Amino acid sequence: MDLVVLVSGRGSNLEALLTAIENGRCRARVSAVISDRPQAQALALATARGIPTQIVKPADYADREAWDHALSAAVAEFAPGLVVLAGFMRLIGASMLSRFGGRVINVHPALLPAFPGMDAPAQAIAKRVSMSGCTVHVVDAGVDSGPILSQAAVPVLEGDDEASLHARIQKAEHALLPAVVDAIATGQLSLDGPVPRYVGSTDGAERMFAWPPLI
Ligand code: GRF
Repeated sequence: MDLVVLVSGRGSNLEALLTAIENGRCRARVSAVISDRPQAQALALATARGIPTQIVKPADYADREAWDHALSAAVAEFAPGLVVLAGFMRLIGASMLSRFGGRVINVHPALLPAFPGMDAPAQAIAKRVSMSGCTVHVVDAGVDSGPILSQAAVPVLEGDDEASLHARIQKAEHALLPAVVDAIATGQLSLDGPVPRYVGSTDGAERMFAWPPLI
């Protein structure tokens, strides 16, 4: 399955995905990496591996709609089977959703529906929760509100601040995202119906994809 990965920042999730692909844990291929920010460090990770990159930045367009249209055209050039938002810090709009709706996934640093939006680790610290984690979900028109595909829980420890909690959550993200992409790429997790479905069970039961896998 061909992926287009959208990034805005450091790219540690992109790197985890590329590493998992290189060592056979994620059976997919990154066709392109597209960013809204020319300075995103993630772009260098792609370039170093010979993966095409593109920048589609909002400042070059009249409004959000025009930017979203240009973004969807840039993504469409690579005809991906799946679009992965890996630290992409903008909401996609109607154009992206009408072309790729249901096949765009995002990784978020909290156990949704808790703490959607920006600064999820800081929100978790402020609320003094004892567990947080990360979620991979299908992107819809809302803020981190689409169907949940899989989650991994992470403890919040005494003395944690936003940075230390986010670092612990990111370790979980780096395992979860490639696992979910692999499940989609290999047909174990289907995004084709009205609701995402885990179709890999041998006993005929339908379950959600679980990470770590259920025994
Ligand atoms: C991740 O924590 C992800 O959950 C959030 O943005 C962060 C991106 O980190 N959406 P990176 O750029 O992949 O290192």
